[in-house]
Amino acid sequence: MSKTPFKTIEWTNDGIVMLDQRKLPTRVRFIACKDADCVIEAIKTMGIRGAPAIGVAAAMGLALGAEQIHATTREDFLQAFNALCDRFAASRPTAVNLFWAIRRMKNIAVSRPYPSVKETLKAEALRVWREDIEINRNIGNYGKRLIPDKAGILTHCNAGALATGGFGTALGVIYAAFEEGKNIQVFADETRPVLQGARLTTWELHQHGVPVTLITDNMAGMLMKEGKIDLVIVGADRIARNGDTANKIGTYSVAVLARHHQIPFYVAAPVSTFDPHIASGSEIPIEYRNENEVFICGSKRIAPRGIQALNPAFDVTPAEFITAIITEKGIISSPDTASIEAIFSEDAEESTYG
Ligand code: MRU
Repeated sequence: MSKTPFKTIEWTNDGIVMLDQRKLPTRVRFIACKDADCVIEAIKTMGIRGAPAIGVAAAMGLALGAEQIHATTREDFLQAFNALCDRFAASRPTAVNLFWAIRRMKNIAVSRPYPSVKETLKAEALRVWREDIEINRNIGNYGKRLIPDKAGILTHCNAGALATGGFGTALGVIYAAFEEGKNIQVFADETRPVLQGARLTTWELHQHGVPVTLITDNMAGMLMKEGKIDLVIVGADRIARNGDTANKIGTYSVAVLARHHQIPFYVAAPVSTFDPHIASGSEIPIEYRNENEVFICGSKRIAPRGIQALNPAFDVTPAEFITAIITEKGIISSPDTASIEAIFSEDAEESTYG
């Protein structure tokens, strides 16, 4: 199997090192975090982004932060650690993997003796990272059977190696099909306003040698009408109990278009992206980001001053538009509350924070 030609995140002697996704594709730069504050800032400002990658970064950031808590008692340590967890939880609201990772680290913190718990937290963070790569490989293996040879595939945003611990979810499925020798053509929506599709998805597909064509967000309908798209595959930030799925703004429009053109619409996501405490998509908190992301394209302002802009970072695609959700445990066709419940039963205990 081919290796991802770059590392999104790793723990080195220089601290937690992340590929700076604000700078790609024009500059390949790294953020080296020596404390938890730096990791929180990288998540907030999207130096690292994508639901599973945010989870991995939070786990590592918490372990690094724990190393730097100098408490005299276990109680004092837990108080400081909980406060740090709260600060990570406030960094971005929509991707549930963040809260899942915090819960996982908290469970370790409260169940191990102090101060050796610091080492255990680091080991757990590295496990979260390694497991995520393994999970993505499994998602790829399940998902590749849904990709016909010579498929034209539309994807939105970036759900690749950059958005995860490595390999990717939606792009992981594409990589797995490509590694198998399938002849595929990917169309990447540019994904306004932050341009994850134009800047990140094209960059990493190109690094892997996968043929990719960039389109603007308003071209998908025409391509579907012309018969160029055989399937759509995207990632997810949070999936409700009934299968309603939050993903990057614009995903809902693509799903509606796919339904109209009778094109399969797939979501690829790990079990940690399901939120068992949310019955439907209307309960998913949607992050609204600064309006300057809409006003400014690259470094150029594209709208007059004195007006307003809206900047919801995510939208919710109702389950009825989703052909199947591809997880590391298998494929859920026509997802609904009953088919998803089976997956929850094993993971519900540790899936949410707070
Ligand atoms: O705002 P972002 O870039 O963090 O949004 C990312 C997405 O919407 C991805 O599609 C999602 O997190 C899945 S990543 C495997």
